[in-house]
Amino acid sequence: MTQYYLKPKVLLAPISTEIFKEFNLGAEVVILVSNTIMENFNLHSIFEDLRLTSNLHIYKHIRPDAPFEDLNQIIDELKNKKLDNIIAIGGGSVIDAAKALSVSFEGIDYRDIFYKKADMPGKKINVTAIPTTAGTGAELSFGAIIYDNYNNIKGGIRGEIVQPDNVLIDAKFHNNCPFKLKAEVGFDCLTHAIETYISKKSNPLVRNQSVSCIKNIFKYLIPACKDNDIYAMEKIAISSALMGLNLAYSSTCLPHRIQYVIGPLTNTSHAQGLIAIYKGWLKHLAEINLKELKTLAEDLDMAVHEFLEKIAFIKDELSIDYSIADLGIKRNQIKEISESVTGNVSADPCYQDTNTIYNILTNSL
Ligand SMILES: [Fe+2]
Repeated sequence: MTQYYLKPKVLLAPISTEIFKEFNLGAEVVILVSNTIMENFNLHSIFEDLRLTSNLHIYKHIRPDAPFEDLNQIIDELKNKKLDNIIAIGGGSVIDAAKALSVSFEGIDYRDIFYKKADMPGKKINVTAIPTTAGTGAELSFGAIIYDNYNNIKGGIRGEIVQPDNVLIDAKFHNNCPFKLKAEVGFDCLTHAIETYISKKSNPLVRNQSVSCIKNIFKYLIPACKDNDIYAMEKIAISSALMGLNLAYSSTCLPHRIQYVIGPLTNTSHAQGLIAIYKGWLKHLAEINLKELKTLAEDLDMAVHEFLEKIAFIKDELSIDYSIADLGIKRNQIKEISESVTGNVSADPCYQDTNTIYNILTNSL
């Protein structure tokens, strides 16, 4: 049986006061945004208009990885309010922060869900996601990656309930990102497409979306990054959002599991880690002649070597051809890293035991 809901309201439009009327925000609204985005897109005037019908609580302090400390500040300040909507305007961390907060305001402590002491509740505050980077898929996925900064633990809360209720895609936000960020986060989007296709949890609808996303990345990521082409950027932004759904209905593979170890160890971003691990993972899949890789290449009308060459070409063109050595990993750390990888490693059809991870990391040096 294949299940695939297209539930949230997704609008593709420039941000404006008018567009917010589509979302029925309610009386008490939390907005998570950054100072830079407020200034660059003159959101002040839109927010002034929204104040005519809603009481706004604007927060600009959410840091990368959505640390507990930043979430707690909002919960402490608003715990006695009856909130109606959380608008998250930002990258994956800002949207994930809104998703975690949305369940916390319904009486369940997100930390208990994080540490599996409580089940995900059946209700939450509505979330309106306005992504400003194209890649994480947080705007449509069923998970929120957050960070316990007190105990140095990064992890996730997962459940259909945390999927945002409204999504606004306005590619001018994405287009304003620096070149390197666009390129790296765009690669994260590519990894979601490839891994949700390859995963043992995949299904025909997921694979169909993956193929369409990979074609978009192959065609549009370079012009989106190099020429600030807004049409190309919108294609990547749409792909990123739809890969959020793929993440909900399939799963990622070993590169994402390994990145969760390498990121904190090297203090590098999610996307940078993935780019480096892909060097070895794809090589490993090709070496073992993985049938899912062959099928994916066929769906793209390519031979496996052409598919791999295309990815290498994109990394080269965008100057993001990193290895794990570039991130600071030494050969003598690989064994320990391999043994620290946790999570559902067997969703990756190439996984046999920790030696698989050892080989991938050695290939990634
Ligand atoms: Fe990712």
